[in-house]
Amino acid sequence: MTQFSVIIPTLNEVDNIDPILTRLFALNRASGSFEVIIVDDGSQDGTPDKVHAWEEKANVRLVERKSKPDLTASILAGVAVAKSNVIVVMDADLSHPPERLYAVVAPVLDGSHDVAIGSRYVPGGGIEGWPLHRQWLSRIGGWLARPICDVSDATSGFFAFRRELASTISEHAHGYKILLELLLAGQGKLKVVEVPICFHDRTHGSSKLSFSHQWIYLQRLMTLAGGSVAIGTANRYVAVGLFSIIIDIGLFQLLIYSGAGLSLAHIMSFFAATAVNYTLNLKWSFQSQHSDPLRWHQLGRFLTVSVMALLMRGGVLAWLVYGWHIPPLLAIFPAVAATAAINYLGHAFYVFPVNKNSPSLDIRWRVTSVGVVAFIILLRLIYLGQAQLIPDEAYYWNYAQHMDLSFYDHPPMVAWLIWLGTAIAGDNEFGVRIGAFLSGLITMGYLYALAKNLYDKSTAMRTVLLLAILPFSFATGIVMTADAPLLAAWAATLYYMERALIAGHSSAWLGMGIAFGLGILSKYTLGLLGIAALLFVILDPIARHWLRRPHPYLAALLALVLFLPVIIWNMEHQWASISFQSSRLKGVGDDQFSTHLLFVNLLVLLTPVGLLAAALALRPGSEHDNSQSARRRRLFVWIFTGTPLAVFFVLSMFDSLRFHWTAPLWLAALPTIAWMMGQNVDLRSIKGRLQAAWRPTIVTCMFVYAFILHYVVLGIPGIPYPAFMKYYFWRETTHEIEQIVEEVRLQSGQEPLVVGMNKWSIASTLFFYNRKDEPMDIRSRNMFGDSGAMYQFWHPAEPPTTRSIILVGMDQQQVEYDRSGNDITSMLDQPGPVQSMIIMREDIPLRRVYYRIAQGYLGYQSTPESVISKHN
Ligand code: GDD
Ligand code: MN
Repeated sequence: MTQFSVIIPTLNEVDNIDPILTRLFALNRASGSFEVIIVDDGSQDGTPDKVHAWEEKANVRLVERKSKPDLTASILAGVAVAKSNVIVVMDADLSHPPERLYAVVAPVLDGSHDVAIGSRYVPGGGIEGWPLHRQWLSRIGGWLARPICDVSDATSGFFAFRRELASTISEHAHGYKILLELLLAGQGKLKVVEVPICFHDRTHGSSKLSFSHQWIYLQRLMTLAGGSVAIGTANRYVAVGLFSIIIDIGLFQLLIYSGAGLSLAHIMSFFAATAVNYTLNLKWSFQSQHSDPLRWHQLGRFLTVSVMALLMRGGVLAWLVYGWHIPPLLAIFPAVAATAAINYLGHAFYVFPVNKNSPSLDIRWRVTSVGVVAFIILLRLIYLGQAQLIPDEAYYWNYAQHMDLSFYDHPPMVAWLIWLGTAIAGDNEFGVRIGAFLSGLITMGYLYALAKNLYDKSTAMRTVLLLAILPFSFATGIVMTADAPLLAAWAATLYYMERALIAGHSSAWLGMGIAFGLGILSKYTLGLLGIAALLFVILDPIARHWLRRPHPYLAALLALVLFLPVIIWNMEHQWASISFQSSRLKGVGDDQFSTHLLFVNLLVLLTPVGLLAAALALRPGSEHDNSQSARRRRLFVWIFTGTPLAVFFVLSMFDSLRFHWTAPLWLAALPTIAWMMGQNVDLRSIKGRLQAAWRPTIVTCMFVYAFILHYVVLGIPGIPYPAFMKYYFWRETTHEIEQIVEEVRLQSGQEPLVVGMNKWSIASTLFFYNRKDEPMDIRSRNMFGDSGAMYQFWHPAEPPTTRSIILVGMDQQQVEYDRSGNDITSMLDQPGPVQSMIIMREDIPLRRVYYRIAQGYLGYQSTPESVISKHN
């Protein structure tokens, strides 16, 4: 009886026939029986004759195809004549060791699996004799398939499957990757196993894999993912695209020549080109299509993609022109190339996707995730070195200029990261922020792994999608504050908590100790997860046994050791930062009921849709699964989100909180929210509407981020900067202050003191952007009795001086009064009038700055009020 059929496609393999059949039939004598079907595609080297010679002595058949050679078609032709219901496919050239045949076919033969893959990329598998470039091509091919196909070796040519699956393969399938087609046709429903094999490069004949096969592979992959490779009438679409590019570049050059700014020129040329592109596509590329090709919603999507491409390319231009000092006339070329790529991918997957229902909802979410996450990561990377620092970042940069074990108002991680980033990438915005960017990637990695462990790979991908688009996590991935490493450590801690408490891996405690230690070096809020963990082990009977094991205690000890720098610093500084932080334990200290504000903050941090989704995710009964693992998972999400949330909720009843304090606690809820996004629900139910609301939310968030970045870096013509930009644009502002200092220096013949007239932000930004050879001598308002945070340590007291003094403020108040409203002129010698100036960039007003010059400083005179304010 024939148990299974081995199909071997051949194309000019004359020297391989004897060896492979000999080795195969040597197996046959030992165990079971199979037939071999050789499908030849018109070999010219005598391969068919060789096979005929075998047909008499063994169970071999030859199928000769006469049509155009094609591997997939050959295999299907073999399947058509096979006598058994289990099929194995392998190469003729002995690349696939015949001795692994039974190992590969066994899982299908015994009925436990639908498909078994001879895999090079699982432990025990490998490749021998392939040149490096071939290995890389194979790897890249595999990686490209990973988002939509959950196996390690989707391009293997050695695999077994149940025969009836062949009928599920798309009629469009062709080329080398029949396995991929098979897997995707049955996505999610097939039981697949990978059996390790070692691939040996052939010794006889040559490979038939050509560039065109790889091209076909890419095209099939794109189609299977739901993208249209060819859009409209493909040649016309391409021609229209090229024509639009010429218009874009030509008009841009013209506008730049006639003196338009970078922003105006590239936006105008882009919109002109887009209008031409759209009209020509409509009238020409899609003309032959029978259905009405460009409907309203497609116009909307077309514009959406265009605007995203435009806002991204502004960053590319800024990077090249401002960062690398490449002339705009040259920089426009790579910028346009980036635009074209975004436009094409957007059109292929979003505006004109293939038949809407063909990839499953699940695959469409995955493709969306990959696209959006890639866009957001690129957006951050391109803009992070171009957008000027906000005051907080500049303050932490100042920390890094006074490297220490810890600091007064924050633990040291943020400073250490800035120190490292600027040491490697240069003392500029990019160097300051690269740590935040990398922290964002680490957050994504750990949360992906957590969601995959709690749910599945699709959920994990949507979790990363949420991280990319939700405001709290988008911002922490580009702005360098303590929250960036905090989020990464929080995600890592959650991951190890799950591994230890739910999966029961004792080795996870080591990771937990490290993550917790590093996290608490970032921000003390992480401590709330410790409370949550304790609560979990108390409530979960299975995890409770950890209380009697050494691991949690050793992990805590390890975290404590990592935390030592903060303890040592505090010992040396009269516990200053500990007492500062414990005064903050109740909030910012205004004793106001602020729960309603907490709610408003959550709307901003999570978006309304995100907040509603979080509420649904945490609602009891959100999931119907009542298995033990599902119940433990719910408890985990509940406790690790709910505990810190409850703490902040209670605090908010007695005091105001900073608006971003709750940000990290939402990490634990994201996997459940992401899971809900992919469920099939009644479209009219609340959950259904929520699902429908995600798409516009994602698009809006992407647009808002791209818009803000373009706006602050390049400006948007016609939209002036609002008054609150007084907190920003310190690069240009510092430049103006430098001019004033220069004048005073010349007049008085002495180095003036420059005082940033608030706690730390003005002084910090002036320090960062002061790039003249002669640095300014900068102080903060603690000179006038304000609390200066770290400036109190760097410049504890200022003696009276006859040097000139320049006060710098963001508004008039700041250069007139101290923090508690006392006139500061009594501490100044001959204070001049308050002056103000509008800061410009290329004829565009950015903001206003206030300043005031005095002839000397009389020393700090405390008034009763300012004594009180110091204690606040
Ligand atoms: N009938 C038929 N028609 N057979 C073909 C054709 C064709 O058009 N093209 C190639 N073959 C046969 C070859 O004779 C050989 O038996 C087998 O298919 C594999 O072809 P190779 O030319 O040896 O491919 P390769 O070694 O470069 O690629 C192998 O490794 C890849 C992994 O990256 C194959 O196993 C691929 O399927 C695999 O993807
Ligand atoms: Mn080969």
